[in-house]
Amino acid sequence: MIGRFIAVEGADGTGKSTQARLLAERLGALFTREPGGTPLGEQIRDLVLDPAGEAPVDRAEALLMAAARAQHVDLVVAPALAAGRDVVSDRYVASSIAYQGHGRGLGAGSVAEVNEFATGGLAPDLVVLIEVSAPVASSRLGDDREGELDRIEQAGDDLQGVVADAYRAMAMADPDRWVIIDGDGTVDEVAARVAGTVDDWLNPRWDS
Ligand code: TYD
Repeated sequence: MIGRFIAVEGADGTGKSTQARLLAERLGALFTREPGGTPLGEQIRDLVLDPAGEAPVDRAEALLMAAARAQHVDLVVAPALAAGRDVVSDRYVASSIAYQGHGRGLGAGSVAEVNEFATGGLAPDLVVLIEVSAPVASSRLGDDREGELDRIEQAGDDLQGVVADAYRAMAMADPDRWVIIDGDGTVDEVAARVAGTVDDWLNPRWDS
């Protein structure tokens, strides 16, 4: 039996990581994240997101994300799915299309090609997009400002706006695979929306 692969996506400040974790717990699925998910992937994450030191140029950023992803797919995601385990990943290929393809302006096509190579074509069965209004996302990131914003979060609201628009366009273009969840509200409220939508997707009711 092959497990189901669910990716949770969203711009920064949408609460996506919390919701991805809760969804995985609820489904009894393996929870994992990108960039990261393996020791080497987590090292790449530190390199690419650390605001200190030499910033990768945009193409290097895309390739580092893809390198971490290749490692993650071969060592974590694919083996779990093959063993029949469901997998919930906090971010996957759509993050690279949104941030590097659109946000950094590298183009969705070339970033998709690099990621096809990196993943061997492994695509999620379902992508859950968490959306919040721009002011909510910005103020949630602002709440973190005393702490640490990573290098990409520091790029600011313009990049986040482009990323949010790119996600929405991807979701609209592939409605069989993507669901959009309103991320405004408490953690519990949003988690209930995610749970209801994912349950409907996993167990479709033919009468509705
Ligand atoms: P994120 O997953 O939001 O982690 P946290 O919630 O702990 O801050 O942060 C990862 C950052 O990496 C985020 O700004 C998006 C960025 N990113 C890309 O630009 N491309 C990618 O392919 C991935 C996976 C992440």
